[in-house]
Amino acid sequence: MQYFLDRIRIAVAEATRTPPDQIRVEQPRDASKGDFAVPCFVLAKAANANPAQFAAELATKLAGDLIEMEVAVAGPFLNFRVERGELAKRTIESILDAGLSFGSSEEGRTKRIVIDMSSPNIAKPMSVGHLRSTVIGAAVKRLHKFLGFETFGINHIGDWGSQFGKLVAAVRRWGGGVDLENDPIKALLDLYVRYHEEEGKDPSLDEEARAAFRELESGVDGEVRAIWRRLTELSLAEFEKIYARLGVEFDLVRGEAYYETHLDATVQRIVDAGITEESQGALIVDLESIKKGMPPCLLRKTDGTTLYATRDLAAVFERWELHHFERCLYVVGMDQRLHFQQLKAVLKRLELFWEPRVVHVDFGMLRLPEGKMSTRKGRVVFLDDVLDRAVQEARRIIVEKNPGLADLDRVAEQVGVGAVVFNDLKRERVKDIEFVWEEVLSFEGETGPYVQYTHARLSSILRKAKESGEGAVPPDWGAVGDAASVLLSLGRFPQVVRSAAEHAEPSEVTQYLLGLCRETNSWYASTRVLGEAPPATAARLALVAAIQTVLATGLGLLGLAAPAEM
Ligand code: ARG
Repeated sequence: MQYFLDRIRIAVAEATRTPPDQIRVEQPRDASKGDFAVPCFVLAKAANANPAQFAAELATKLAGDLIEMEVAVAGPFLNFRVERGELAKRTIESILDAGLSFGSSEEGRTKRIVIDMSSPNIAKPMSVGHLRSTVIGAAVKRLHKFLGFETFGINHIGDWGSQFGKLVAAVRRWGGGVDLENDPIKALLDLYVRYHEEEGKDPSLDEEARAAFRELESGVDGEVRAIWRRLTELSLAEFEKIYARLGVEFDLVRGEAYYETHLDATVQRIVDAGITEESQGALIVDLESIKKGMPPCLLRKTDGTTLYATRDLAAVFERWELHHFERCLYVVGMDQRLHFQQLKAVLKRLELFWEPRVVHVDFGMLRLPEGKMSTRKGRVVFLDDVLDRAVQEARRIIVEKNPGLADLDRVAEQVGVGAVVFNDLKRERVKDIEFVWEEVLSFEGETGPYVQYTHARLSSILRKAKESGEGAVPPDWGAVGDAASVLLSLGRFPQVVRSAAEHAEPSEVTQYLLGLCRETNSWYASTRVLGEAPPATAARLALVAAIQTVLATGLGLLGLAAPAEM
């Protein structure tokens, strides 16, 4: 694909004496127009000519040069249609040569991307929101890595705030009655719920909680801090189980508490910049000048305690010092839009040149059939249970379709977890998604299992060919001439990856894969691969291998396994 784009660009550049980088080569949406197109408006304008006339003259000049394609004029456009055998050979060979690195590049080298992802709160079950952050963040990270960027994933754990005073008080009072060691998340949830039930009846509870949080904030390393530390460790160990199932790792797991010791310096830096004000005893940064109506950023409350925003400021300063990032992406739900706008507004008021590099990668809500969660009321959905159920369902479907499958457990886990992940990445991230069990796991709809299944079918064709020894002769590329739409899609993969990374939008990859599977399946439905004239079979097998490679790479970038059989 790149080959043809370059050929056209250079030929047009030479014929018009324009620098090649100024020539736009597009892919028409309507494939019947051609494989590639060059709009001539700008070029004609520079030559002081009528665009249509200009296009017609240019076409005659190009005809002798671009022998592997037809050039047609359509008004102010030049359309190019590559000879089918040539399209097949170039596209397939470039994929098979590169293998799983087809689409990767070095373009991001020396550029660092920091990704704040997952970031759940301890002592609570991980929410579906944090699941989305984990899955989207990890995909964005892999996409950048694939393009050569240095990536740094940070799990910014919520381990600070007055709620921890409440938990410490609850552990002290009722900790003996719950099983913290063996079922920590459930135990902590029970304590949390109990606290909120009893809070109203017993005012001493609130006092104890406040005192506990004050002690935590003071930095004293006593009983309170020991309880808090234990809760943190227990929670992290639970989260780790989910990360392991999702295959997600972090370069740094750091609780907000870490920034406690940075807060004075952080606040001082902002005070020194002369942008703070006292307001009713609190320290604030006014943000009206950045955007009318934006509420001020509260740095320190009247009682001297600091806030989520202050800790995020401390964190972003440190991230900049350490990484000099090209971009610092915060993969956090839309409900925190204001928070990140304010964070950026403070950076703007500080006139930091890198402020535009700080980006809130926001996303919509995932609605589970169980309805809205409420930690306080103890009404929560455990993600582990969601994954377990998905795996169970996947297993049931697989047993039905392929009763003899070896390795059933492993494949069921890959398909079940993959289904949940894919569903999360399927739509533009800002859209809310409805989680409907039948849809998520269907082997035929727009799902992870559908893409995995297509991949497995192609793998099985290749296995059979290997057994029968087919495909070992030079291919007749003309025999895949009818697969132009598949070929053009395959060739587009590198661009899709680049665009998805730039927009931090994994759905560009999911949608691409779904399209490729649809095209592949309709080609396959009307074409025989095995048992044809050997050179034709060889070409079709090569195409099958190329598609299988791109599907495997794409699935991998999204965080799904690509089982060879299912
Ligand atoms: N723990 C926070 C929450 O659950 C999300 C943290 C996101 N990252 C950040 N740097 N603010 O709401």
